[in-house]
Amino acid sequence: MPDTSEPVRPRYYVTTPIYYVNDKPHIGHAYTTLACDVLARFKRLDGHDVHFLTGTDEHGQKVQQAAEAAGIDPLTFCDGVSRNFRDLAVTLGCTNDDFIRTTEPRHHAAVTALWQRLRETGDIYLGEYEGWYSVRDEAFWLESELTDGPNGTKLAPTGAPVVLTREPSYFFKLSAWGEKLLAFYDQHPDFIGPSSRRNEVISFVKGGLRDLSVSRTSVSWGIPVPGDPKHTIYVWLDALTNYMSAVGYPDITAESYQRFWPANLHMVGKDIVRFHAVYWPAFLLAAGLAPPQRVFAHGWWTNEGQKISKSLGNVIDPLELVTTYGLDQVRYFLMREVPFGQDGDFSRKALIQRINGDLANDLGNLAQRSLSMIAKNLDGVMPTPGDFDAEDTAILARMDGLLADQRRAYDTQEFHIGLTSLWGAIGAVNSYFTAQAPWALKKTDPARMATVLYVTAEAIRQAAILVQPLMPTSAALLLDQLGVAAEARGFDQLGAAGRLVPGTALPAPQGVFPRWVDEAPAA
Ligand code: MSP
Repeated sequence: MPDTSEPVRPRYYVTTPIYYVNDKPHIGHAYTTLACDVLARFKRLDGHDVHFLTGTDEHGQKVQQAAEAAGIDPLTFCDGVSRNFRDLAVTLGCTNDDFIRTTEPRHHAAVTALWQRLRETGDIYLGEYEGWYSVRDEAFWLESELTDGPNGTKLAPTGAPVVLTREPSYFFKLSAWGEKLLAFYDQHPDFIGPSSRRNEVISFVKGGLRDLSVSRTSVSWGIPVPGDPKHTIYVWLDALTNYMSAVGYPDITAESYQRFWPANLHMVGKDIVRFHAVYWPAFLLAAGLAPPQRVFAHGWWTNEGQKISKSLGNVIDPLELVTTYGLDQVRYFLMREVPFGQDGDFSRKALIQRINGDLANDLGNLAQRSLSMIAKNLDGVMPTPGDFDAEDTAILARMDGLLADQRRAYDTQEFHIGLTSLWGAIGAVNSYFTAQAPWALKKTDPARMATVLYVTAEAIRQAAILVQPLMPTSAALLLDQLGVAAEARGFDQLGAAGRLVPGTALPAPQGVFPRWVDEAPAA
């Protein structure tokens, strides 16, 4: 019997950190979520079975204090702020498949089960803790890591104030996992990216690990320790578990757990690498569960050269950016401007330069000029090309070869490299278009003009398919204008497989990427 079943699609599970609900969404949150969305869209177009998760981290002292300050009970407080993050994902055009909240019963069950498992294996024991705790970071710091603050106070490396805290506490035997973690990093060289962060994590672990306090008696807003409810489970052990609770843990036979765990990628900011690349794999290895395949840490944005902080009043509101400059424009800029993984500076001038240069000039103008020529000179019908000469063949070959570079770049989260390669090809198409001068061929050799316009349109088709993950709305507009059917926009249609069909009637062309003139985009 022939096998009529669908081929098994490779799966791809990508997660954002879950965001603290004590704050309004800002550019940092938008950045992490967007990077994951771009990846999720890329993988779907490339034939993967994708699961994209984001959500909110709602327990812990910080939230408890914020709710008290607002004079409302913590859950009502969380409902409100969590909604802001859910809405942010929608405004950013994100395609997350799920949104998890740590206050949900499914998460509660997962954290309790993981705790019980770690008690059974003997990796969690009861002791007493004395140490320097920072509420802002929800973390204990070593005395050696602290610096002096004003009026005899001590500060964590993050600049947050710390207080000396002493209380009975459950501990996770992290000290027993150092060698095993080092062996794990060794066997999984791609576990942490970029490599600078990997080196940082390895030297931290080599420096020796101390047991980790994983419960608090001074915090009540959280998940109680099973069998000892005076204690609340440490917010990071709670929060990290979200990645598994969302796919069905503790039911490890659940279809979604079997399908998606271990996650392919946890995307995080550089400030939370230690939690994801040291504590989290240690908890999972101890529980006999598979660690995620990769953790990638991106850098931090400054605003016009300054550190972003509420006290400086220079927090960048992603919603304002999208309203002012356009969603696709902001998505493109954030992924293109700064090498992903490094810190970078946000400036409106740089954003406008990208809008006018890369988008309006390089891609928008090319599409507008070639499609207008087809509309005016060829009755708006995709022409039949003649024989391809060496120049035509070179352009088509360059476009046909782009996917391999894109895959490599996306798999290593080097979005800027993927985009540089794509825009290099768009530059080559612009040079081809100028050199071939189809407007001059109109009189001397109309058949050749038709070939040049066909090759240019075909190059734009491939560029538009490849920019869909970043700029879904603009790419769709371009593909509509090229007469490409909605079901012919996947990556399996790149190259010769999906060439434009001569004779297709095209809609009237319209500009896709407006130029930014002075303070407002030109109509
Ligand atoms: N709740 C934890 C994560 C738990 S995951 C199991 C947390 N939440 S957070 O709301 O503070 O997360 C913020 C995310 O935004 C982090 O990935 C952080 O790196 C990122 N950013 C915060 N400010 C940023 C910039 N200025 N620039 C870029 N990203 C920044 O941590």
